[in-house]
Amino acid sequence: MHRVRRRRPIGDFARMAAGKDTDKESRHQYGAQYDFVFSKAFRDSVQTVLELGVHQGGSLRLWEEYFPNASIVGVDINPDATEYASERSTVVIADQADKDALDEALEDGTFDVIIDDASHVFTKTRASYEILWGRVKNGGWYVIEDLETSGKPRLYGGDPMLGPDTSMSGYLARIANGLMAYDVVRKRRWFPTARVVSGPNITFLQRR
Ligand SMILES: C[S@@+](CC[C@H](N)C(=O)[O-])C[C@H]1O[C@@H](n2cnc3c(N)ncnc32)[C@H](O)[C@@H]1O
Repeated sequence: MHRVRRRRPIGDFARMAAGKDTDKESRHQYGAQYDFVFSKAFRDSVQTVLELGVHQGGSLRLWEEYFPNASIVGVDINPDATEYASERSTVVIADQADKDALDEALEDGTFDVIIDDASHVFTKTRASYEILWGRVKNGGWYVIEDLETSGKPRLYGGDPMLGPDTSMSGYLARIANGLMAYDVVRKRRWFPTARVVSGPNITFLQRR
């Protein structure tokens, strides 16, 4: 029998990403994941967004539309990225793993959403998470894209065993393990992760 493939209706993220210079939808198809996690009501309530990795500013333009009331900060190691600042978006030049530079630029800033789409190198991705997680507001989200890089150690570091100390996917799996054993773990220490949502090559962590 002939199987008919149903086309899903195009979501907000995919519609807004179309024509912008970002591969978040065209290559990675992250739209379905973002739209699943971020309701329209949440997006409208977002005031501050930080993205690591500006490239040519396409995602800054996308976030301006997707989070219509937010101020956006982009961070990139390439000084040319300042070109892509706008009325709604500022661009900070820093290495994503440089705590002093990030602390100096961000001062006491906190964010509803932080997205890491920068180097995807394991040690730098982990460093950014450890530096910036404390800046996620209660109920806000930290998003890590392109986690398939965890399986490409020659390009992105770590090793192919995907362990907690050797890959970002392993590191995040340990957090998810803690959450699944929450009643036990919380007796030993404050556990600040409220939710972990993983889709293909992407993970969203919500702060308690
Ligand atoms: C994949 S691109 C970002 C794409 C952009 N978010 C978009 O969707 O249009 C990665 C960016 O990360 C930047 N980058 C690479 N290593 C970095 C580092 N250590 N710290 C900060 N930015 C870095 C690169 O200069 C590049 O602009």
